[in-house]
Amino acid sequence: MIDTESIKAGVKNEDRLEIIGGNRLTGKVKISGAKNAVLKLMAASLLANNNCLIRNVPRISDVETMIGVLKGLGAEASWQDESSLLINATNGLGYSAPDELVKEMRASVQVMGPLLARLGRVKLFQPGGCIIGQRPIDLHLKGFQALGAEVIEEHGYVYVQAKKLQGAEIHLDFPSVGATENIMAAAILAEGTTVIRNAAKEPEIIEEQNFYNRLGAKIRGAGTDTIRIEGVKRLNDREIDYMVIPDRIEAGTFMIAAAITGGDVLLEDVIPEHIEALTSKLREIGVSVSTDAETIRVKMDGKLKAADITVLPYPGFPTDLQPQITALMTVANGTSVITENVFGSRFRYVDELIRMGASIRVESRSAIVKGVNSLSGASVYAPDLRAGAALVIAGLAAEGLTELEGTTFLDRGYVDLEAKLSGLGAAIKRITYA
Ligand code: UD1
Repeated sequence: MIDTESIKAGVKNEDRLEIIGGNRLTGKVKISGAKNAVLKLMAASLLANNNCLIRNVPRISDVETMIGVLKGLGAEASWQDESSLLINATNGLGYSAPDELVKEMRASVQVMGPLLARLGRVKLFQPGGCIIGQRPIDLHLKGFQALGAEVIEEHGYVYVQAKKLQGAEIHLDFPSVGATENIMAAAILAEGTTVIRNAAKEPEIIEEQNFYNRLGAKIRGAGTDTIRIEGVKRLNDREIDYMVIPDRIEAGTFMIAAAITGGDVLLEDVIPEHIEALTSKLREIGVSVSTDAETIRVKMDGKLKAADITVLPYPGFPTDLQPQITALMTVANGTSVITENVFGSRFRYVDELIRMGASIRVESRSAIVKGVNSLSGASVYAPDLRAGAALVIAGLAAEGLTELEGTTFLDRGYVDLEAKLSGLGAAIKRITYA
């Protein structure tokens, strides 16, 4: 397990954010394309027999890392404009992704399924532990084995190969997003039908089903807990042009930021049903949320009420919004209990919130948050992406100056976070390390 101190030591020369809290957020903000969908569609392009144009791609560092992974495998990837990415993986694809990029971004494991389907083999540096808890890939590998692949783990690498993949019935012990995606990809060109039960139901999985089906795959059931993949002999040769769904986690982050500042914010380019778990929780704690087809308006005046929140796989409350909602509950009236059921160790940011005046006790998988009247600005460090977002949210509401280190984490998943927040009236600026 990586510890926060060692990460801190390694990023001394990084940018930092300065936030002066207390400004109400008001106005409109456009939500970017979904990070967790785009990264997988980029990996999925490895199966395509022609150009894939992906639109609404967020310009974040994780996308740049995935571009590096694709190029390292021999694919071509280039920006066509600010948010359109063209990928062509038709020629000379290798089966081993660059180690340093796999180490940098766990989502690189999502190239395994497409490469196994296309090349019959894949070799990857074994992704290790992670700051938010252990993140093994045993369910991915068990799925590949069920399809007839051989898995060899040695010298820190995982090597998967198959002369032939054969459709199978696979029951996941846990509805893992990544395992569902990788198994779905691996089964596309297998002989016969694969059924994935207890599959993850996230909107990003539906997105991949739609993308693969445009390439000629025969997949149905994504969005439910049973996905059926009827193996095809070959995918089609068509070019595809695909528009990615909006990022529900970015949307949720802005909704919570609006709520904590007593603001009035209209989010544009969103799919409200993807974020219903948060919407209903915000309403329960006293925030007004109204939606129409592609917008969400969040309005808050008055005092927030405490509530209990249980994190679960989709459609439950998302783990990727757990730190942000915990930040919100630090200033609610009463005691809230936030229980994390997806990752083992996702409360590492709590000490930083405590430094800002929050009253939080972590017991096993739960954070017990006793609401305080106000937070106070402090020097804090973001231990991971969503924790960073939580600290920004806390800083927006805190009295005085918050200095946040760990901006590289925020840059992995948020497009122009400071610019978007400034546009809503926040006093936030980036101090660039010279
Ligand atoms: C994806 C998201 C991440 C989100 C998570 C849960 C991307 C790039 N990342 O991560 O932002 O927080 O879904 O919504 O899309 N597990 C195993 N064995 C496995 C696989 C997973 O035990 O083989 C466990 C993990 O340790 C974790 C849980 O299952 O505790 C959920 O992981 P999973 O759904 O696979 O998350 P990711 O796909 O890694």
